[in-house]
Amino acid sequence: MNATNDTQAQGRDELAGRVALVTGAAAGIGIASARRMSAAGAAVVLADRDEEGGRAAAAELVAAGRRAHFVRADITRDDEVQALVADTVAHFGALDALFNNAGVNGREIATSEVSLDDFERVLAVNLTGTFRVMKYAIPAMLAGSGGAIVNNASIAGLVGIAHRAAYCASKGGVIQLTRVAALEYASRGIRVNCICPGLVDTAMLSHTKGNPAQAFAKVLVPMGRLATTQEIAELVCFLASDRASYMTGAVVPVDGGYGAR
Ligand SMILES: NC(=O)c1ccc[n+]([C@@H]2O[C@H](COP(=O)([O-])OP(=O)(O)OC[C@H]3O[C@@H](n4cnc5c(N)ncnc54)[C@H](O)[C@@H]3O)[C@@H](O)[C@H]2O)c1
Repeated sequence: MNATNDTQAQGRDELAGRVALVTGAAAGIGIASARRMSAAGAAVVLADRDEEGGRAAAAELVAAGRRAHFVRADITRDDEVQALVADTVAHFGALDALFNNAGVNGREIATSEVSLDDFERVLAVNLTGTFRVMKYAIPAMLAGSGGAIVNNASIAGLVGIAHRAAYCASKGGVIQLTRVAALEYASRGIRVNCICPGLVDTAMLSHTKGNPAQAFAKVLVPMGRLATTQEIAELVCFLASDRASYMTGAVVPVDGGYGAR
């Protein structure tokens, strides 16, 4: 799917006039969600530490006549995240919707063999990085007319997966960050929800042991297949929009039934 043939989104404008920030927007679920939110009418800031991929993604949207802007930012860097939020507001005048998506996989290894460096590296991106973007985005939303935050957790935050200690711990933490912030800001115009994707067809999964990923999904997922990134982007766009106006603190699986076992 690209910016011009997003047929699922044609005719919908649920994010018209909104400014959306997507982290990890150079690839996978992030780029699909940036495209979907853009097709829904949002001006989109695409942030990633991958400068080449992020610039190309933003250029694709601009070429399709949309409002999009790339900012290189590593979510483990405090200065870069502060600058990202400031740049978003300076560029498009507000910050209304955040898809807090950037994340990394950990090595697949038994808990006692995980090095402290690896554990901390995964937590630094997936948990502290997600917290950091919320920390600086929330004041910008409060200064405007509120907003909607969608954090990207994982089914790995809801069920245990052997050999994934750092990843599961980080995603469980994202779920709890979501709930806490939802409670704090419910009365101040900011909704905070998180999604829990199952196995999604992206580069992240192709690095998982036991690939080919499709065969893996046949065994693990009741629907017998991977999710497409567009299937995840639909939920992101819904939660970011006023169609989800009574939802906050929700933890929403989008997993083909994986977590129902
Ligand atoms: N693919 C899956 O099966 C799956 C399932 C559940 C949850 N998720 C979550 O979805 C999110 C996106 O994953 P994906 O599958 O699209 O992965 P991906 O590897 O395709 O894309 C991740 C993007 O995040 C960027 N990124 C990584 N670390 C960053 C950092 N420190 N600062 C800024 N950008 C950074 C990468 O450059 C990349 O563009 C992650 O949080 C992941 O944990 C993925």
